[in-house]
Parts: sequence; C-alpha cells; structure tokens
Amino acid sequence: MGSHGNLNIFVGKFGLKEEIMIDPSMMRFRRLRRSLAIRELTNETRLSIEDFICPIFVIHGTNIKQEISPMPGYFQFSLDRLPEEVQEIWDLGIKAILFFGLPESKDSLGTGAYSEKGIVQEAIRIAKQTVPEIVVITDVCLCEYTDHGHCGIVENGEVLNDSTLEVLAKVALSHARAGADIVAPSAMMDGQVRAIRNKLDANDFTQTAILGYSAKFSSSFYGPFRVAADSAPMSGDRRSYQMNFGNAREALREIQADLSEGADIIMVKPALSYLDLISRARNEFLAPLCAYNVSGEYSMVKAGGQLGWLNEKQIILELLTSIKRAGADIIISYHAKEVAKWLRESRD
Ligand code: PBG
Repeated sequence: MGSHGNLNIFVGKFGLKEEIMIDPSMMRFRRLRRSLAIRELTNETRLSIEDFICPIFVIHGTNIKQEISPMPGYFQFSLDRLPEEVQEIWDLGIKAILFFGLPESKDSLGTGAYSEKGIVQEAIRIAKQTVPEIVVITDVCLCEYTDHGHCGIVENGEVLNDSTLEVLAKVALSHARAGADIVAPSAMMDGQVRAIRNKLDANDFTQTAILGYSAKFSSSFYGPFRVAADSAPMSGDRRSYQMNFGNAREALREIQADLSEGADIIMVKPALSYLDLISRARNEFLAPLCAYNVSGEYSMVKAGGQLGWLNEKQIILELLTSIKRAGADIIISYHAKEVAKWLRESRD
C-alpha cells in the first residue's frame, strides 16, 4: 500500500492495484449498522446449529446424571440415561455427538478401550438405536483407560509411539464395529491416522471416516476435561507427545501429515487461544476444518457468568462466532446445546 497525494493504492488479494480516492464522506460504515435488519443483511458470519458437535461423557452405573464440578451445567451420564440425552440433542437440531467414556477399571495397557462391551462401544449402539441418523463420533485415545493416565503405552517412563499405534487401531476398529460413523484419534502419536485407516480398510470399514486431532496442543485448558473423564496423567505431563503451544508452523505440518495419512477432517485444538492457526489452516488446506472449544474455555466463561462478571450468553455467542470467523467449519463445544436453544429462539 502506498500513498500518492489523496490517492491510496491498495494491492488487492490477486495482486491487482485498486485505487481508492480518500474522501471521508464516502467512509460511512455506519450506514450498514443503522438497524438490526440491515446489520443482519450485511452479517458475514452466522453460527448455525449444524456447525456443532456435542460431546457426551458416559459412565458405568444406573440412573446417573452427575454434574462435573469444574464444568457447571455439564454432566456424566450412565447408559440408561443416554437415550433421553441423545434424543434431546437431536431434537435441538444438533447432528453429531462425540463420546468419551469412563471405564469400570483401568490397566497399564488400556485394554478397556477396545473391549467389545466397553462403555463407549455400548454407548455407540444405544445412540444409534435411539436416533439412527445421528452422526456418532468417538475419541480414540488411551488416557481414560490406562492406570497411569497417559495416552499411550508406557515403558521405562517413556510413552511409546509405535506400540501405541497398534492399540489405537484396535480401539478405532472396535468403535467402527459398534457403529461409529467417525473415529477421532487424539493421542498425538505419529502415524496414528495411517494406522487406523489401514486397520479400518483391512476390515472392510472403508466408509468409516477419520477426524484427526491434527494440531493438538499440550494445554492447561484441558484441566476440567481430565476431571470429567478421569484421565489426568499420574506422573509427568503430555508434552512429549502433544504440541508445544508456541509452535505455529509445526501445527501446519501436523495437519499436512494427517491429510497425507488419510484424515477426512482436520482439527485445531484448543480453539480460542489458537484462532491464528484456525485461520492459517483454513487458508492452507481444503479439507473440512474442525475446532475444539475445549473444557477450560467453557469453564472460564461459566465461572465469569456465575460470578456475575460477564454477560454469559453474549460472551459465548461472541466467542463461538470468532471461531467460525477464523475459518472453522465445525465446532466441538460444550456450549452446543445452549447455543442450539438460543439459535432456535432467535429463529422463532
Ligand atoms: C483425550 C482427550 C483430551 C481432550 C479430548 N480428548 C484430554 C487430553 O488430551 O488430556 C480434551 C478436551 C477438553 O479439554 O475439552 N486425550
């Protein structure tokens, strides 16, 4: 952009020069802000119910709908209470759910994660019986199922990459067998998408899609989730496998790797502190892009709302719109149900 007297020369998107007279009387942006109707007409980014994936935590036991203490308004469900929840989500217009399971027992190899009668496998069947059309997505990871709480097999204090791939592939296959439409590997092992794609294809699940947690950062925003899913590591942290939050170029390489391994949908996680990467991923890649508005992001807003410090509803809508404006096609959010209600109200 250069200045020539009262002319400003902009070099546009395609390298063309657009000469614009600077005439203050023309710069009346407020013309298009004068009424609600005109603002809606010129609105660039609109949330819709179909953008959202709603996470669900499932737990053993009966008649449980237990609030998660650091996530006010969010619950763990026992399987007998699952149909009413799935039906409610569907009736609100949300098309997709994402399951996380708390198993009855854990072991060092996370074998509960691929048990045919495991908690998530049962939840998938129940969801599909309740609403056959709903898109069922499953988190493929070991941290809820290992007694040490790491996302992979641990040997001599190290989380092993290649031995974990085998297990993740088994987990994904067991979810596909139970009826999952999309499996979402989140363990951040290198090669996990390829290992899962190969396993699914070899077992004739060529139609099961993969949502890669491609750029998943090692983030303190997962804290409340680890209470909800009982998945905190017993020792150490996840920095040897999840990404360093200072790294942007590496995030793009992670996404590129997932796509080349066969991911159908890519993800940036968390969302709000990583809007720059959502935007860059949108510009660099053509695949559907998902953003995960994670537990800590939810909890912060809920805390501010409970203290009366924030207008919770308006803040939630602003935050979620920013995720979409940055370039996300799909948003995983614990706010999905409340947003669906608000979007319906504004439509009626
Ligand atoms: C499993 C997993 C985690 C989240 C999604 N899948 C936790 C972690 O990596 O420790 C976090 C989601 C959230 O915070 O809402 N590995």
